[in-house]
Amino acid sequence: MASVSTPSELVQYGQKYVTKGLGHGLDAVVTKGSGSYVTLENGQEMLDFTSGIGVTNLGHSHPKVSKAAAEQCMNIVHVQCSIAWHAPYIELIKRLVPLMPDPSLDSFFLWNSGSEAIEAAIKIARTATGRQNIIAMQGGYHGRTFGAMAVTKSKTVYSEGVLPLMPGVFTLPYPFWHQCGRPSSTSASELSAHCLEQLHLLLVQQSAPRDTAAILIEPVLGEGGYVPAPPEFLRGLREVCDREGIMLIIDEVQSGFGRTGKMFAIEHSGVRPDIMTIAKGLANGLPLSGIIARKELTDKLKVGSMGGTYAGNAVACAAAVAVADAFKEENVLENVNVRSEELFAALNSLRADPALAPYILDIRGKGLMVAIEFASPTGTGAYDRFTVSSAPKSMAKRVAKRCQEKGMLILTTSVYEVIRFIPALNISKEDLAKGCQIFKEAVEEVVREG
Ligand SMILES: Cc1ncc(COP(=O)(O)O)c(C=O)c1O
Repeated sequence: MASVSTPSELVQYGQKYVTKGLGHGLDAVVTKGSGSYVTLENGQEMLDFTSGIGVTNLGHSHPKVSKAAAEQCMNIVHVQCSIAWHAPYIELIKRLVPLMPDPSLDSFFLWNSGSEAIEAAIKIARTATGRQNIIAMQGGYHGRTFGAMAVTKSKTVYSEGVLPLMPGVFTLPYPFWHQCGRPSSTSASELSAHCLEQLHLLLVQQSAPRDTAAILIEPVLGEGGYVPAPPEFLRGLREVCDREGIMLIIDEVQSGFGRTGKMFAIEHSGVRPDIMTIAKGLANGLPLSGIIARKELTDKLKVGSMGGTYAGNAVACAAAVAVADAFKEENVLENVNVRSEELFAALNSLRADPALAPYILDIRGKGLMVAIEFASPTGTGAYDRFTVSSAPKSMAKRVAKRCQEKGMLILTTSVYEVIRFIPALNISKEDLAKGCQIFKEAVEEVVREG
């Protein structure tokens, strides 16, 4: 069993000396990863439907990516970006330029983490507009540094007890039926219209356009519940931003790099970002993030205002170059779209089962960024009115645990009963089917137990 009842010596040492602030879904040591599988210290293989939270998009230890990183290690590991240029940095930008969702995105800065990318995006927006306020989305997650925490609205745990955060942040509902207090059958246009009305109100009641630097949004709400924003909502935001001179920051940290079946999730709407943040899948596991904007905006930054000791590390950049090449050579996007249909078919067949149907509130997502939401007997909190009295308690957590016991890693997300599917983008038909079968059995067992 993967949920090791007696943690190994290594785990016990970690439990003693690693901060309590860090939680672990599985108290076991992972020693190896290959493709869609990881191996535990006890030799057990587990099918990985988490991809390290959407990072190892090309599977664990992708041979070309690992080789590129290893070769770079033997050449030079660290060229501090303010001291000199290095080739993998430029080679990576050469690969990224043609992938951008809009040709206006032509000025790049590379950093280490998603949170840092968000901090930089805010800095660029404030510098470019000379304004301060940021409108963030309810349920949005952007990281754990102080600026990123201030715009994170998915759970209070990230910033509870450590206030004050960065001031000047206002919150807008995301077009997610839960947040709008409407059932899951509500149309995308109704949700979009509601949230755009709220934006218009916000701009006359709370943050005047001339004080508003940016609207920040994940095109697919990640930690908030895996909810794709309707294209009409994103287009509505674009219109407001154009009219009022507000920057539209699109956070593609989790949804980018093929996760939704297009290179970037914003492409599903055709909306042009002013500023875009990327990380996670960019280097398939090596720490690397990026902030992209128009040159005209970033030219307003003072020389020296951007930088960082490890920013755009040479080994991470070399890995990212290999990732970009593999995307092209290995038809990754095609695989995402075919596997996505299979995944939705498997989840919809669960909903077609009369024994399970009452407990499945929603199946949603794009590409291989997919979620299933279960019902709760009491609601997940006072904010949740969509209860089903006969539903099993804490269904998402229990199903995820049951999957773990059956040899598959899978994650919950949000304050609701949601399980998210984030398999490797190049997962095989067989492994996807295997994961769906494990999931089906887990759901059936939890429903039977009640
Ligand atoms: C959409 C989004 N933005 C930003 C972040 C923060 O990234 P990091 O954990 O690399 O700081 C995350 C991390 O999950 C994310 O999903």
